[in-house]
Amino acid sequence: MTPPETAAPLLQLQGVGKSYGGFHAVDDVSLTVHAGERHAVIGPNGAGKTTLFNLVAGTLRVTSGRVVLNGRDVTRAGEHSRARAGVGRTFQHSSLFTTQTCAENVALAVRRCIGLGTSLRVPTKARGELARQVADLIERVGLTDRAGDLVGDLSHGERRQLEVAMALAGDPALLLFDEPTAGMSPSESGQFTRLVQALPRTLTVLLIEHDLDVVFSVADRVSVLATGRLLEQGPPEQIRNSPQVEAVYLGTGHDEVFIA
Ligand SMILES: Nc1ncnc2c1ncn2[C@@H]1O[C@H](COP(=O)(O)OP(=O)(O)OP(=O)(O)O)[C@@H](O)[C@H]1O
Ligand SMILES: [Mg+2]
Repeated sequence: MTPPETAAPLLQLQGVGKSYGGFHAVDDVSLTVHAGERHAVIGPNGAGKTTLFNLVAGTLRVTSGRVVLNGRDVTRAGEHSRARAGVGRTFQHSSLFTTQTCAENVALAVRRCIGLGTSLRVPTKARGELARQVADLIERVGLTDRAGDLVGDLSHGERRQLEVAMALAGDPALLLFDEPTAGMSPSESGQFTRLVQALPRTLTVLLIEHDLDVVFSVADRVSVLATGRLLEQGPPEQIRNSPQVEAVYLGTGHDEVFIA
């Protein structure tokens, strides 16, 4: 397998910015993520991480710069078009239907992706294929035993696993995780880390994460955002030892993550 740093760029952000009035939530960020890479984005609260993800996913439009996906300029493409071009994501705040089962939630995601929408009628021919895909996705995230259970009965960690299954439904090339381990117990976090580690390298992962144990277990490269700007980027060991990065965290309430 080609090492990520010599593989083709899957995502290129070129001088990307997002302003609200005179406030720069994301400010002139240039970033390259290679195919197969696990790339973590870290930074204090309000640094612009989620905004940056929204600019990649097309949920928000840039106010400056370019977004290039797999060599194609998608700067003006909307969210659905980028999803079709291979961008999948999980959200910082959960977006599951708690009164439906795991399998029903995943089925909805698959149906959206194969163009069946939320129509109640599924052609007979498509039913078997839909059920097979749902079972396969649920197995990939280790929730087979929970497939028929209501989402409302799942633990926090299991819900986040289910969200990964739903994000995988569109067979993405680039998967964005926004703080997937927030609120997880240490054992749930460990399980989630193993889930990300087990994802095939055909999938490129961009991960916003506050827990640096997770970051250093998963990431090939780390980008540090602070006040909307890219402060530093490099392999995990460089970031771990960076006085500049440590200084940004001090006094933010996140300094404890550097002690871990
Ligand atoms: N729609 C908006 N209008 C004005 N300001 C916004 C808007 N969305 C975000 N911001 C501001 O932009 C900055 C970056 O927000 P963002 O949510 O991207 O940060 P973050 O790094 O994801 O933070 P957290 O770690 O708390 O999730 C914050 O100061 C936020 O208040
Ligand atoms: Mg955020």
